[in-house]
Parts: sequence; structure tokens; C-alpha cells
Amino acid sequence: MYKPIFYEIGLKEFMKICVVGAGYVGLTTAAALAVFGHEVQCVDTDQVKIDDLLQGKIPIYEPGLENLIIEYSQKNRLYFSNKIVESIRDYSIILIAVGTPSQNDGSCNLSFMKQVVEMIVATINSYKIIITKSTVPPGTNEWIHRTFIEMGVKDDLFDIVSNPEFLREGRALWDIFHPNKLVFGTKTDRPLEVLKELYLNGSTPLIFTSLTGAELIKYASNFFLATKISFANEMARICDAFQVDYADIKKGLGTDPRIGPDFLNAGLGFGGSCLPKDLHSLKHSALTHNIETKLLDAVMEINDSQIELYLQRLNNVLPASEGKQITVWGVTFKPGTDDLRSSPAITLIQQSIQRGYTVHTFDPMVKLDSCDVTSHSDQYESVNNSDALIIATEWEQFIHCDWSEVQGRMKGSIVLDARNCLDGEMLRRQGLLYLGVGIR
Ligand SMILES: NC(=O)c1ccc[n+]([C@@H]2O[C@H](COP(=O)([O-])OP(=O)(O)OC[C@H]3O[C@@H](n4cnc5c(N)ncnc54)[C@H](O)[C@@H]3O)[C@@H](O)[C@H]2O)c1
Repeated sequence: MYKPIFYEIGLKEFMKICVVGAGYVGLTTAAALAVFGHEVQCVDTDQVKIDDLLQGKIPIYEPGLENLIIEYSQKNRLYFSNKIVESIRDYSIILIAVGTPSQNDGSCNLSFMKQVVEMIVATINSYKIIITKSTVPPGTNEWIHRTFIEMGVKDDLFDIVSNPEFLREGRALWDIFHPNKLVFGTKTDRPLEVLKELYLNGSTPLIFTSLTGAELIKYASNFFLATKISFANEMARICDAFQVDYADIKKGLGTDPRIGPDFLNAGLGFGGSCLPKDLHSLKHSALTHNIETKLLDAVMEINDSQIELYLQRLNNVLPASEGKQITVWGVTFKPGTDDLRSSPAITLIQQSIQRGYTVHTFDPMVKLDSCDVTSHSDQYESVNNSDALIIATEWEQFIHCDWSEVQGRMKGSIVLDARNCLDGEMLRRQGLLYLGVGIR
């Protein structure tokens, strides 16, 4: 299932690639490159991560990844190491996939990128192609290029490539084997032949641009996707006022090929390690050039207000002052991952506790480690005696659960669908009070 359609074609020539950073992007990319036929060394500063990987334990959850990593490690095509300096020195293609988290002022923390750049500059002794996969602000790859030159590295010894990643956690392998595009920002044509071979890209459209152009394609994509979500959330509020089901509007919009059905779900809003961080970073970059970001600001403002909107809905039927018990299903930022970074579900849980609710949770992948929350390993047990159930992440097993069992275990009957993912009529027939935003 996770093998690319063009897998059988094979490479003209395999390459030796060092992937720096064994996180969601680095690990998935390293495994995929090994499947493509390359020899891949994946390195990380996190000793525990590398020790786990060497023992066949995968530090993150991504469907299908564990099997691929084990298979290609056994085939001696995929290696893991904490010997970063040696690996960087010995490999001629270096792919950087380290984290670029947000700082307090919204800008991107580039310290991990800088560490890697410094290591390459200090050890480079033969021609290398350095490929940035991490999402970085416009101008970062130009800065990397300048740093090499200023540190005395001759420009015939290296090429910098900006190759942003567009995978979605939970579907990362599918995305990497079936990309809708590959974006390469370069300064010269020299690395192009290698880049065309790197991903066995078949008929995938290749977009060649400048270093900064590639960086901005990534930010523009995330800005646009976030805009669709905030648009959906604002439309759902308007639908509420007119007692119209937003699901009908979504269907009407999604069938228009100019709009498309994706990223139009109303709900708690976007989260995760990318969209919020990248929007803040883009705003910060724009501000450094005195560009106003009215649309970007509105998109973030709508998103930030979604949790309050849902908590108000809950408060209308179950005032927090009564110290009621609620159960939250789903804590990850979306289904199919164990990633809690900027998860709206976590913010919802924290704010529910602050308001005085007693909170129980269940998530198929993550048990929360907090004394303020009772985290269950059984989905049905988690609703015992609860006054309300909130769906914060749309895992399949919530959508298709046994609602009579849920109703029998709950003390109250409120189900707040914060992802517009349930069949409301069916729940009402079951005697439950089904609520949401943009839901009739
Ligand atoms: N997660 C996604 O869905 C996604 C999608 C597209 C793009 N991105 C971008 O890709 C980048 C990586 O994201 P991620 O989610 O994989 O992050 P992550 O936090 O899961 O992984 C980053 C890894 O880099 C390692 N690292 C940090 N400094 C290092 C160094 N000097 N040498 C070696 N390893 C080092 C960390 O230990 C960590 O394991 C970010 O810029 C992110 O914005 C992420």
C-alpha cells in the first residue's frame, strides 16, 4: 500500500544520503528514500531516539512507518546514528529535517538549522548538495549560502537546495509516495539532475524556483489551507444564525472544482506543529518588511476564538459553576497521529479545567500524564457518569462507536461535536442532546 506506483522502475543510480533529524519529517523521508533504492543514514542529537531506532522501536506514530523502517534497516539501506559530524562529512547529499519551532515573538527558532550549517561548514571537504526540508522563513536558504561563502567555502564545493515538505502527519507515507508536486529552490542548475532522480518522481510536477521562492511556496500553502479552515468556521457561525446545516454548505462549496472539498471542515480549528507556527512566522517575516497582514491576522483570530465558542455552547447547557464532569474524546491535534503539539484539544481541556469542570479523556494513541485530568485507556469507561461528552478529534472509532453504550454509561446526555463529524440525527434518536456549531 505504501509502495510508490513507480517503485518497480528503479533508479538509474542509487545515492548515499544523510538525513539530519529523525522526527516526523526526517524519519518518514529517510524511510521513503530507502524504499526508492538509496542508502540512507538518519542522524539525530537525541540519543534516546537513536537508541530506540537501533532496537527497532519507532519514537513516533505514523501509520505504516514502523514496518518500512524495520524492513529497510534489515536490507541495509537505512541506518541510524548519533555520529552527526562524521555522517555529514562522509555523505555527499545532506537533507536537513530538524525542527524550526516558534519563538515567543512568533519568529522561527533557527538554532537547530544553524547548528547543522555550522557542522557542514566545519567539515566539508568534497562536493555536497545540502537540501533544506525544514520549513524556514524567506531568506534562510540565501543566508545558508552566504554563510558558506563567508566562512571561506568555495562555491564549486556545494549547492544549497530549498525543498520544502508538504506531507500530512497520519498520511505521511502516502503523501511522500504520491506527492502532488515537488518544489526545488536552487541558485544554479548544477544539482537539478540529482534532484530529479532523488525522489523517483515519475510524473509528479516538478516546480523549480529560487531558494526564497521555494520557502514562500511552503508558507503560502499553509496560509491558504488555514484560510480555508477559518473561512469554514466563520461560515458555520453564520449558518447557525440562520438555522442552516453547515454540512449542506460544505457540500455545495466542495463540489466546485475551483474551491475543492478539502480543508472546509468547521470545528475547533487548526493546530499541530505546522499551521499555527508557520502563520506566525510568515507574519513576523512580513512585518520585518513593513507589510501589513490583515488576512493572516483574521485567519489566526478566528482560529483562536473557536475554543471559546465551543466552551460557551457547553456552558449554555451545562454551567461550569456546578463543577460538572465532562469527557473529552481525542487529544491529538488530528486523527492518525500521536502529535500533541499545539493541539486545540489540549487547550480545550486546559480551559475546561480552569472553568471548574472535572475532565476525563480518552485518545486511541495518547494517555495524558497530568494530575488535573483522568486519562482512560478504555473509550467507553471514560464516559462513565459524565454529564457531557466532547469530540475534540475526529478519530474513526468515535464516529462509529456504540452510542447506546455511551448513553447508558453517561449521567447526562450532552454530546458536543467539536469536529462536525457525527450523525446528529442518529444521536438524537438515541436520546442524546447533540450540539455543535453550524449544526441544526
Ligand atoms: N511534522 C509535519 O507534519 C511537517 C510537515 C511539513 C514540514 N514540516 C517541517 O519539517 C521540520 C521538522 O518537523 P518535524 O515535525 O519532523 O520535527 P520533529 O521535532 O519531530 O523532529 C526534529 C528532529 O530534529 C532533531 N534535531 C534537532 N537539532 C538537531 C541537530 N543539530 N542535529 C540532528 N538532529 C537534530 C530533533 O532531536 C528531532 O528529533 C520543521 O521545520 C517543520 O515545520 C513538518
